[in-house]
Amino acid sequence: MTIYSKIVGTGSYLPAKRVTNNELAAQLAEQGIETSDEWIVTRSGISARHYAEPTQLSSDLALAAAQRALEAAGMQANDIDLIILATSTPDHLGGFPSTACVVQHKLGITNGSPAMDVQAVCSGFVYAMSVADSFIKSGAHKNVLVIGTEVFSRILDFKDRSTCVLFGDGAGAVVMSASSEPGVLASKLHADGSHGHILCVPGNVGNGAVAGSAYLYMDGPAVFKLAVSVLDKVAREALAAAKVDASEIDWLIPHQANIRIMQGTAKKLGLPLEKMVVTVGEHGNTSAASIPLALDQAVRDGRVKPGHTVMMEGVGGGFTWGAVLARM
Ligand code: ACO
Repeated sequence: MTIYSKIVGTGSYLPAKRVTNNELAAQLAEQGIETSDEWIVTRSGISARHYAEPTQLSSDLALAAAQRALEAAGMQANDIDLIILATSTPDHLGGFPSTACVVQHKLGITNGSPAMDVQAVCSGFVYAMSVADSFIKSGAHKNVLVIGTEVFSRILDFKDRSTCVLFGDGAGAVVMSASSEPGVLASKLHADGSHGHILCVPGNVGNGAVAGSAYLYMDGPAVFKLAVSVLDKVAREALAAAKVDASEIDWLIPHQANIRIMQGTAKKLGLPLEKMVVTVGEHGNTSAASIPLALDQAVRDGRVKPGHTVMMEGVGGGFTWGAVLARM
């Protein structure tokens, strides 16, 4: 019997602190930095974002999202036999212990099953889903908790108006389980390290200190150009692999980076904008968390229903990109 992987529960969490464009603009104005609600909305579609409290770590946001996904799946934490967590803002410098291991402990999982982080920046969630799909299809694991979680506010330079207005914090999670019916129909992943410099945190750690900048750097126009072309290509690759026509997509859930990139992607795929789940306006760009946050919102408000075909696709630093086509 063919084993498929299927999403059986979704969950998400946004920190309580919501900051509107006007509030952020007022805060930046105190440092002599000029921006406006009008500039941010026009260029990115973002109206507000959420910021974690200084005491909240990526694992705390992930824990809340994971608990909701487990509840939706009707599972206990110890039913999970693998955790894959995507983040670029892990709890610990150097990335260890992995945030996945921290979340495993916070969930009270004591069954000794593996837990690992995946690093593909804003493509992290589709990378993590694709890895989970392969583990499930191979028969190695049955119930995989896949999480995207970020506290991107920690790596934002609030003196750089071209980046700090675009990002926010949050977490999303899904439980993927072995199933006799599909499931993930196809997934395609890519990377091109030659574009690493256009979106990065350039600094590194040595002798107990950070050398170089620990803030996010982005060449916005270069990212924009690359993003639109790769998102269209990878979506078509996934459709071709699954032998599904673009017209059969019920919902497009792209990485929520910028409304103009998202609309460009939908247009290239020939999809009406009503078929795209949009949360960027309220969440900003939450990197690895943006797709599962949007998916969970659309599941909970009844737009995404069992049987629907959903195209999830991400693009991010590395440069990385990928798509997962799934039947809910
Ligand atoms: N408020 C007011 N003015 C600003 C701001 C701001 N917050 N930020 C930049 N500006 C100014 C610039 O200084 C520039 O002024 P100048 O012409 O006097 O030099 C002007 O606005 C235009 O700047 P551009 O960079 O050309 O603006 P653009 O139209 O390209 O929009 C943006 C910038 C929104 C960053 C766009 O390039 C973009 O969306 N890029 C993709 C970003 C993205 O999606 N990143 C995430 C993908 S991967 C991931 O998620 C990690």
